[in-house]
Formats: sequence, structure tokens, C-alpha cells
Amino acid sequence: MAPVPPKRRRGPGRGEEAGAGRAAAPSPAPPRFPGVTIYLAEQHMGRSRRAFLTELARAKGFRVDQAYSPEVTHVVMEGSSAAEASDWLDHVLGASGSLPKPLLLNISWFIECMRQGKPVPVEGRHCLEVPLPTRSQADPDSVPAYACQRHTPLAHHNLCFTEALETLAEAAGFEGSQGRFLAFQRAASVLKALPGPITNMSQLQGLPCFGEHSSRIVQELLEHGVSSEVEGIKQSERYQTMKLFTQIFGVGVKTADRWYREGLRTLDDLQAQPRKLNRQQEAGIRHFEDLSSPVWRHEADAIQQVVEEAIRQVLPGATVTLTGGFRRGKLQGHDVDFLITHPVEGQEAGLIPKVMGHLESQGLVLYQHTQSNHYQDLKDLDHKASQNTAMDAYEKCFCVLWLPKPPTSFHLETGEGPKEPSRDGKAVRVDLVVSPISQFAFALLGWTGSQHFERELRRFSQAEKNLLLNSHGLYDPEKKESLPAASEEDIFTHLGLEYIAPEQRNA
Ligand code: CTP
Ligand code: MN
Ligand code: MN
Repeated sequence: MAPVPPKRRRGPGRGEEAGAGRAAAPSPAPPRFPGVTIYLAEQHMGRSRRAFLTELARAKGFRVDQAYSPEVTHVVMEGSSAAEASDWLDHVLGASGSLPKPLLLNISWFIECMRQGKPVPVEGRHCLEVPLPTRSQADPDSVPAYACQRHTPLAHHNLCFTEALETLAEAAGFEGSQGRFLAFQRAASVLKALPGPITNMSQLQGLPCFGEHSSRIVQELLEHGVSSEVEGIKQSERYQTMKLFTQIFGVGVKTADRWYREGLRTLDDLQAQPRKLNRQQEAGIRHFEDLSSPVWRHEADAIQQVVEEAIRQVLPGATVTLTGGFRRGKLQGHDVDFLITHPVEGQEAGLIPKVMGHLESQGLVLYQHTQSNHYQDLKDLDHKASQNTAMDAYEKCFCVLWLPKPPTSFHLETGEGPKEPSRDGKAVRVDLVVSPISQFAFALLGWTGSQHFERELRRFSQAEKNLLLNSHGLYDPEKKESLPAASEEDIFTHLGLEYIAPEQRNA
């Protein structure tokens, strides 16, 4: 098994901040989870319990603000109904509907965080579903059929439905049923784009991508609060094992399925048969504990600094752009994705081995697999490319980097052996991709995701515009020419689509 990470040391002084009921006292020490700012709503919770919970969370290194501000990422309520939460949001945001919207969570999320001593990923059961007060219910006719035609924010109003539908999609994927996978994924994605929660079956009428099966699941959830089909799948040995195995870095559905059919069920089973593992999977299991816990935004920023410094050393002038889920505004992810380019075409070639060499010399590389570029002529794109998650041909590296925990003032003050290599840190999955500047816009669009948004962009391009899109370019097979683009906006314009900002691509 992966080694148990050493206990993180707590910074000093946080416990000093007694009297959590006081107004907006600034935290005396930097919070341990900078991506997370909690606001506890007093309503129903009561003042003294709120003060107690505030102090508890701060003692564990969480930032808890006494006053609501746009910096708040997680609003926690206790005993509030969805309607009350809605009123609260209405009251707080007022007319300024464009302010960033926090996640509205019930107390269960907070309690799990306290128990684990760290922020836990937000799941459906934690969420209060709140209709947006300022917008009317969705007019089904106004929901376009393709995800790339819709605005899909990170926080939406139908989590309990989308979670169920995505479980069904995932399970279908495990069985190799691509058609069912897509059907459930598309239905879930439609619900993510609605301006309010589904509370009544009649609201599904006229929604695109909603077949009989998906509708039945929503109905079950509306009537009983759970879906027996979804629960059955989640409990099944098959689903749980496939989920576990495919979570391992380097393990896809085919491998997981083979292992399952061979009777393997646990990580211990896998480790008992090391010959089954390739180098990547071995790394995946060795670092399983770190890699299966979310990467937080501040960790992504720290990794970016490390990568930028390495690049500054080996190719000054090259730029590093954070892509993937973090560019879409996610607060946590399974990895960190970067796109690298250089303003002078051609300078970027062969960059990855140099960067990785530099990182390696610092002892920061736990695993790497570098692919040199293998550009094909865009004309070679066959029609399948627009259906599948087409692998692009860029020079890239799928790696696991070591992110040392930054020394706190506590360490410095106490002179705690700063020279000895510390185990205090974390393994993080990182994807580095290098594109020539002429293809940068396509690479950026292709690597920002979400995966479903990308799939839909390609489907839309081909079916509606007869154009082939991938992470290298946009090709017109009739005219036999590529359409150039200097920005993502250019690509949306070529496709006749409204520009969708990265934060609205969480399809
Ligand atoms: N991608 C790709 N080719 C790959 C892997 C990923 O083009 N071999 C693109 C996909 O379009 C995807 C994006 O890169 O949307 C980011 O992929 P990934 O890191 O898997 O997903 P995220 O959306 O970043 O989600 P997470 O936060 O879980 O990392
Ligand atoms: Mn990612
Ligand atoms: Mn990735």
C-alpha cells in the first residue's frame, strides 16, 4: 500500500482565536485550505453553536468568515429547507446576480470535513438545491440540444439527479456500452444547464436528450428520493471494483474489466500479482492514497510555480497556462493540466524532456511518461476522430510530481531541521502539453474540457457545420482547408456558436 502520509503539522496560534462569535476577526495564521472559505449561516444553527463550529473549523485550519462576501466558496446551513436557502441566497446576492455563487451545503458536508480534518469533495448528498431567484424556470424550448450551445456553470441545481444519471453513465461505460454511456451523460448535462431544480416531471417535457430511461430515473428520485436501480448499481461488487480499479492511474476500463474477470477485487489482490502491473500502474498504486485525494486549487497554483520556474530555466519566454478543470473554475481536481507554448513557432519543440530533466534534478518527479510529438496532417482526420476522445499528437508528459509542503513560519522559527528531506508533501498527477503557437487556441480549447463539452463541440462541428475539430485545428473537408484561429473566440465564431467562457463549460 501507499505509505501513510506523515501527519501535517498545524500552524501555531489558530487556537488562540477564541470568541469565534466576534465580528470578522482576521485569521491569525494562513488557512491550510486556501481554496475553501466557509460561511456558516446562523439561521436555525443559533449563535452559540455557530461560534462553536467556527472555532472548531478554524482550529483544524479552515478559513471561516464571519461575514458573507464573494470570497466565500462554501455556505453551510443547518436545518434549512431549500426554500429558505433560496430566500437567503436572494437576500445575500440581491440584484447582483453576476456575483460568484457559493456552493450551498447542508451541515453534513461540514461535519464530514471536521471528522476528516480536511475539506471533503462535495457530493450530491451535501447539497441544498436552490433555485436561482433572479431567473425564471427553464423554458424547455430554450434549452439547445448540444452542450457547447449552453452555459453550464460549476454549481448547478440538480445534483441529486445528475449524480444518479452519471452513475448510470459510468456503469454503462464499465460494460462497454458507449451508446448508453452517452445517453445518460447527455441527459445529466442538460440538467446541469437548467436555471433551477427539477421539482415536477412536467418540467422534463421538451428537454433535449431525455429518453424514457433517464426520465424514469428522475421520476423515481422525485417520488422516493432514491432510485433503486442506481442504488443497486452502487452496491454491486462489479461497479465498486471497476470504480476502484479505473481510479488507478494507468488503468482503463479494459484492464479493469480483465482483472475483474480474473477474480481480482482489491488493491491488495493487485499487489499480490505484481507481474500484472506496468510501470505506470505500479506508480498509480504506490501513490494511490495521494492520487485518489483531490488536488486543491492552491496546490495547482504551487505546481504551476514549480513548472514555470523549470521552464524559465530551460526556455525563457515560454508560457504556461493552467487548463483542465481548474481553468473552468473548479476548486479541486484529479490532476493539474498545463499547456505550454512559446511565441516563436518551433522554439517549443523538444521542451518536455528538458523541463522534466530539470524537475528530476530537484527530486520532484515520481513518475513520468513523455510522448514526443507525432503531428499528422490534419487532412488525415477520419470521421471517427470527431466521435471519440481523439488523442492529440502534441508533445506531452503524463507525470506524478512531488509537491513539498511549503515550510511554515512555525518550521522556520523552531529551526526544525530544514535541510533534511521532508516527507511532508503530496504526490500530484500533472499533465504537461506543448503546442506550437499557431495551434495554441485549438490546444487550449481542447484541453480545457469538460470532456463532455469537448465531445459535444466535435459532434456539433461535424453534424451541424460539416467541419472537423480537434485539439490541432478545424478542418473543412469540402474545401480541403484548415481554418486558422488566434483565440478560442475565433473558433466559436468559425462554428457559428456563441462564445462560452471556460467557467460555463462544466457540461
Ligand atoms: N484531454 C485530452 N487528451 C487526453 C486527456 C485529456 O484532450 N489524453 C483533454 C480533455 O478534453 C479534458 C481535458 O483535457 O477535457 C482535461 O482532462 P482531465 O484532466 O482528465 O479532466 P478535468 O476536466 O481537468 O477534470 P479533473 O479536475 O478531474 O482533472
Ligand atoms: Mn484535469
Ligand atoms: Mn488531465
